[in-house]
Amino acid sequence: MNELQAYFMREMPGIDAFLTAEADKLDGLVREVARHVLFSGGKRIRPMLTILFARALGRQKADVTAIACALEMLHTATLLHDDVLDEAVTRRGRSSAHVCFGTTEAILAGDVLLALANKLGADYDIPRLNALLARGIMATADGEIRELAHTRNPTADRGAYMDIIIGKTARLIETACRCGAALVSPERGLEDLAGEYGLNLGIAFQLVDDALDYTVSEDEMGKPAGGDLREGKMTLPLILHLEGLAQAEAGELLGALREKRLTVEQAEGIVRDVREKGLAEKTRAAAAGYIADAVKHLEALPVSPEREVLAQAAEYVLTRRK
Ligand code: IPE
Ligand code: IPE
Ligand code: MG
Ligand code: MG
Repeated sequence: MNELQAYFMREMPGIDAFLTAEADKLDGLVREVARHVLFSGGKRIRPMLTILFARALGRQKADVTAIACALEMLHTATLLHDDVLDEAVTRRGRSSAHVCFGTTEAILAGDVLLALANKLGADYDIPRLNALLARGIMATADGEIRELAHTRNPTADRGAYMDIIIGKTARLIETACRCGAALVSPERGLEDLAGEYGLNLGIAFQLVDDALDYTVSEDEMGKPAGGDLREGKMTLPLILHLEGLAQAEAGELLGALREKRLTVEQAEGIVRDVREKGLAEKTRAAAAGYIADAVKHLEALPVSPEREVLAQAAEYVLTRRK
């Protein structure tokens, strides 16, 4: 077992106990919705990053748990809302919350979790934490709405894709890292190092997620394979596929995506092509560049066991198979 796994095993009970206690305080149906998604096997990457940065910068007190859990609550809220936006019926191998409890219920439970995360941040009386949380929430919503607009009018534009994944995924991961640093010290230089690590890690995380979407089965991922193509999402494997097509063929495919008239057979053909042409691997190779950048920013941190675990976390994000 490496240090990363050991760290997760050590910290997970504290995170889960805190989340359980907070969920227990919620009212009626909100409590049920929150429990459904908070305790369904999430990887807890974001709270772990908050804890790791706080410790790497010298915070040994246990008071990091609340802000770490605030990040998991924000993440959970975005998943509740995202599954409504994407009309996704499966999450982590079971029915999505909006399928089990209703769309209105899922949205409102997401809102409650957003507010609760802000309250947990405010309880520290460190204004910077609230500014960071607010920025993270705004960027995530901005990324999601950009993606929605892009899905209605898809183009094989790498810049637009990068803006989307930075917004919808990387900023919240950056926020998790920054909050760990901001809890310890107001020194912006250290927070910025944490932020650069988190931003690059977050970009790589989403690139790998987009590669896995084309290669991994539903059993392994807990969400249907090829889902991005079905949802009409322009991710890097599909952009690379489009770049390899003749202009007329690419135009036809973009039109079919825009008008949502891709048949099941066509979609299966594209997934096959992406696999055969090694485009998921190419996407992972793009992720490797961001991971290298993330790790580079760790070098300026003081030497600590946590610094090593953060390096291992970067390696894990790149090599994960589910
Ligand atoms: C899922 O994130 C949403 C994305 C940003 C791709 P995670 O893969 O971290 O989700 P869980 O919490 O482990 O299920
Ligand atoms: C991930 O969105 C980002 C957020 C949830 C904000 P996706 O739609 O790409 O991720 P999955 O596939 O639902 O996990
Ligand atoms: Mg989704
Ligand atoms: Mg989405």
